[in-house]
Amino acid sequence: MRKVLGAKCETESEAFRTVIKEKPVIDCRTGIALYRKAKNIIPGGTQLLSKRPEMFLPDQWPAYYSKCKGVEVTDLDGNEFIDMSICGVVACILGYADPDVDSAVKSAIDRGSMSTLNCPEEVELAELLCELHPWAAMVRYARGGGEAMSVAVRLARAATGRDNVAFCGYHGWHDWYLSSNLSDDRNLDGQLLPGLSPAGIPRSLNATAIPFHFNQPETLKDAAAQCGKNLAAIVMEPVRHSEPEEGFLQYVREIADRTGAVLIFDEVTSGWRMNTGGIHLIHGVSPDIAVFAKGLSNGYPMAAIIGIRSVMEAAQRTFISSTCWTEKIGPVAALAAIKKMISQNVPGHLNETGNMVRDIWARVSEECGLNIIIHGIPPLSIVSFDYGEKSQMLHTLFTQEMLNRGFLASKAFYATYAHENEHIVAYEQAIREVFRIIAGAVEDNNAEQLLKGPVSHGGFKRLA
Ligand SMILES: Cc1ncc(COP(=O)(O)O)c(C=O)c1O
Repeated sequence: MRKVLGAKCETESEAFRTVIKEKPVIDCRTGIALYRKAKNIIPGGTQLLSKRPEMFLPDQWPAYYSKCKGVEVTDLDGNEFIDMSICGVVACILGYADPDVDSAVKSAIDRGSMSTLNCPEEVELAELLCELHPWAAMVRYARGGGEAMSVAVRLARAATGRDNVAFCGYHGWHDWYLSSNLSDDRNLDGQLLPGLSPAGIPRSLNATAIPFHFNQPETLKDAAAQCGKNLAAIVMEPVRHSEPEEGFLQYVREIADRTGAVLIFDEVTSGWRMNTGGIHLIHGVSPDIAVFAKGLSNGYPMAAIIGIRSVMEAAQRTFISSTCWTEKIGPVAALAAIKKMISQNVPGHLNETGNMVRDIWARVSEECGLNIIIHGIPPLSIVSFDYGEKSQMLHTLFTQEMLNRGFLASKAFYATYAHENEHIVAYEQAIREVFRIIAGAVEDNNAEQLLKGPVSHGGFKRLA
């Protein structure tokens, strides 16, 4: 985490305060109207909380796309944006519609994506994943990250014959995870997404998922003690918003070994960004299971659960089976994406691009007097305006003003292989204008007046 305290800059601030009044607002009316309609026919509006317009810019966000390529996105009104935000919710490491992945997928479609027989690519992919992660011996597949995590937890429970899970971080929408909020509806609040409701989760799962906190070994010790002899799994991301402190992952491994619990690393988001494979490879701690999804296949549905033989073979004693987990496109896309990530040193590009953006945030905020905090690893960078309860409002203003300058932008910048120097240069220019507007809004305490719609949501909320 890096804290940047902005120095005061009087020059130009008046000029920039007038820019906001003069800038014509981009017209996204078709997408906005379609989303209004969607909320009436699709509960929650979309299938993913992170794609709700309310999470970015309520009543102003374009909401839908007609076309995307590289880092460029065209909305339903023909507006073109450069994506400097979450880039397909971290699914598209290579950028949108990557030519190599898409050409492999198109040829798989031409050869038939589904059959009574299995696709051989799932064996090739299993071999490649075990080669990249020499501690792993076997692989199963799913298509979504949350469902793959559910498979991993089932395997751990089946392998140990125990029920309880100690976890840290966000791992999807499934019962095993949300059950944590049955005993205390704020258990999940410190774990990435606040406000997740356990409605619909059987009460009998109460106290089967116990939270602990990253880099706080004593909280894991407490969670493990609470689970006692019934601890089936320890579930966590090896890295998310901060690096593990010296010895933390080793301590987690030690607790798993001492208690006989299965150690599951969720690499759905952290994998493939700093290195080709799980980020745990860099930290030298091997889990018993690692789970990949999203970036594994550049946006095509695909997930892999890789693990040691003794745990993975529990899949023979429990029933884990689904028709569309056998289709061909997912494994073909994953093979093409991994081969490209290796041949082009994609993690190197993501790191470099992420660091360039962090430098821009730090430099410009300092110049124009804004206090910010920068979190995360370079490919998954997050900027927070450090103004307490006003922060969410300032972030909404940031997204509004960046949108009007042709950028999809949020707190998070997730780098892709398709981000090039020209995008970063254009982004810096826009950041210079927008950070000054925000600094002016802080000084004048008038961010609310500058917003043309409501403040964005910071977590899960029922939609009006
Ligand atoms: C660490 C982690 N685990 C699991 C998930 C759930 O994946 P999906 O949305 O593909 O179900 C996510 C998604 O954001 C994630 O970041």
